[in-house]
Amino acid sequence: MPLTLTTRTILTSENAPREAARCLTEGGLVAFPTETVYGLGADATNAQAIARLYQAKGRPAFNPLISHVATLADARRIAVFNEDALKLAKAFWPGPLTLVLHKTTDCIVSDLATAGMDTIAVRIPAHPVTHEILHALGRPVVAPSANISGHVSPTSAAHVCEDLSGRIDLIVDGGPVSVGVESTIVGCFDRPVLLRPGGVPREDIERVLGVKLAPRPAAPEASGPHPLAPGMLASHYAPHTPVRLDADSVAPDEALLAFGPPLPDARPAHMLNLSPCGDLIEAAANLFGYLRALDGKHVRAIAVMPIPDHGIGEAINDRLQRAAVGRD
Ligand code: TXA
Ligand code: MG
Repeated sequence: MPLTLTTRTILTSENAPREAARCLTEGGLVAFPTETVYGLGADATNAQAIARLYQAKGRPAFNPLISHVATLADARRIAVFNEDALKLAKAFWPGPLTLVLHKTTDCIVSDLATAGMDTIAVRIPAHPVTHEILHALGRPVVAPSANISGHVSPTSAAHVCEDLSGRIDLIVDGGPVSVGVESTIVGCFDRPVLLRPGGVPREDIERVLGVKLAPRPAAPEASGPHPLAPGMLASHYAPHTPVRLDADSVAPDEALLAFGPPLPDARPAHMLNLSPCGDLIEAAANLFGYLRALDGKHVRAIAVMPIPDHGIGEAINDRLQRAAVGRD
């Protein structure tokens, strides 16, 4: 797509929610911070704006979008909540959890945003700026992560600018995000299913539900009653540089993405440590920014030390595995 737009960046102090809402009302594309990653927003009721959004990201239109709303009442206007969904909404909203539910019969969200499915992904984000934008607009906002499709998700306004400058109308710069990985996605049908690990650890969700989450179904069942998260492609969240996982050594022409005490005798070309003290929450917040930074160093590969797979570590490992599959 040719670079034709002038992308303005404004700070949250500069009357940003009203500016953002005005731009969205006019069919514009606005990137804004959420607590997980920066989102690229469009008015969820405006099919033309949503078509522009798919084009700006280079995202396949079969991959549906999350509708962001301000209140549970707003969510219930577009999605049908069963008992499990209500429990999860009450426990984790606002916050980094997305629920996939059946659409209401009078759902105002465009069919383009739900890729023609009879289900819808919905979330109430916790970031105050997102809330002000949603209140000012008074309608749901669809927002995928604000990156070129398949690339590493943005955790700062500068990352959004790198990927989408010239392709979108406005960027609201609210500083770095706090969580750093996307929301956890849970499908609430007969049996709740974990469609994507994310900011809310699986263990916390299972504690609230009192049952184990079913694993994500394999592709052939995707059209069945437990829909697959269609965007969970093997390769996603990927830097341009090859990524090597579970590294117990590193070559001099590689970069090291460390976790905890770095490898003994390691002399990598570059090194960043996700969390020297081994804190998974800190590691999640640093993950995408550090992947982008090491990607810019033109090394042969990025070697990543093992990360424990519990809590938010499950989301970190999920993203790293998709990054390791490569983009092409
Ligand atoms: O934290 C987040 O969730 C961020 C912020 C901006 O809210 N958003 C985000 O959106 O990660 P995106 O588009 O990058 O990922 C949304 C995922 C995709 O994998 C998509 O396939 C899945 O949600 N999804 C959306 N609607 C769905 C549906 N009806 N059924 C199953 N999966 C769905
Ligand atoms: Mg994304």
